[in-house]
Amino acid sequence: MRTLQTDLCRMLQIDHPIVQAPMAGATTVELVAAVCEAGALGGFGHAYTEPDSMREDAGALRARSSRPFAVNLFAAPTPIEPPEEQQQEAIAALRGDFERLGLPVPARIPPAYAPDRAQQIEAICDMRPAVLTLHLGDMAPETLARVRSVGVRLGGSATSVREARHFEALGVDFIIAQGAEAGGHRGTFLHVPEHVMTGTLALVRQIVQAVHLPVVAAGGIMDGTAIAAVLALGAQAAQLGTAFLLCPESGVSEVHRQAIMHMDGDETTLTRVFSGKPTRGVRNMLIERDERAPFPLLPFPVQQKLMAPLRAASARDGSPDYLAGWSGQAGSLARRLPARDLVRTLVEETCDTIARLHSFMVP
Ligand SMILES: Cc1cc2nc3c(=O)[nH]c(=O)nc-3n(C[C@H](O)[C@H](O)[C@H](O)COP(=O)(O)O)c2cc1C
Repeated sequence: MRTLQTDLCRMLQIDHPIVQAPMAGATTVELVAAVCEAGALGGFGHAYTEPDSMREDAGALRARSSRPFAVNLFAAPTPIEPPEEQQQEAIAALRGDFERLGLPVPARIPPAYAPDRAQQIEAICDMRPAVLTLHLGDMAPETLARVRSVGVRLGGSATSVREARHFEALGVDFIIAQGAEAGGHRGTFLHVPEHVMTGTLALVRQIVQAVHLPVVAAGGIMDGTAIAAVLALGAQAAQLGTAFLLCPESGVSEVHRQAIMHMDGDETTLTRVFSGKPTRGVRNMLIERDERAPFPLLPFPVQQKLMAPLRAASARDGSPDYLAGWSGQAGSLARRLPARDLVRTLVEETCDTIARLHSFMVP
């Protein structure tokens, strides 16, 4: 099989310059194993995963594949419990929705809001994945040094040149340049996220020129033509999220898959309603209500905990109304293929595109 090897492929010991985005709530052992076995970099979105379950996932993966894999954590600070009044206001705005779905209305949203970060890092040091990537922030240099000391490579998500330089100064091995097209959470941590909405085309080129590290392009990449495009911009790999959501191995609900597949072009938008931080997903009833009359929001990820029962009920009922239907802007181009076939197709398309461009050259 033809393929392309970049320096980053050699550093990470992967066959193809393709990274399956680590997606909290969507990446299963089956998906990661299939991607790794196909020669791309598979990875777990472990942001909300307890350390023991992280270890279990790593064990289950290693029983299926001895290939390198990645783990991703969120690095945003976890807030203390919001004031009672703020909680009551946020709950009251959704009271009718809880009642309509036959769910108990929460009295308050108590901690814990996220797994213990220090224990997650200990789990990483036990698991020793090939790669740890950080989203929504950075971590203390001592923490990164500890992870690095057990042989784990580090990647950081940047949505601006400033964030990319910040990660370079922290000594990471590569940068993930996340363009505004990307599905899921904006990784922004040094700016107001809505102020840095640079698209993948502009961002990748800017970051490639600004730092001396390999760059992985993310956002709006669904096929090999787009992979060839970001390689042309100087990226050393492409990270695809939405494209892998439609694989049968992914963990998302059928209603989420249908929402992506039935988009007519780009029907996504950025919203804070599901987690408190901006995320890109398919428009639905709740997002449009928030656009007409904004909900009082709790800080990230407390809002996520408040919304969790509504999201689960929506998936259970096969309704898109409360679905956190994360998707990138190019989601309508995603294909319903098994992960192994998707990786192969992406590699073939990338090579075909490069050959096609080459054929345009006039000697
Ligand atoms: C369902 C979903 C969940 C995501 N969860 C995470 C996550 O946990 N960590 C992370 O670094 N990025 C996450 N992302 C963002 C991806 O890493 C990546 O930036 C994005 O998928 C690229 O855009 P695309 O969806 O157009 O391919 C998520 C994306 C989606 C679609």
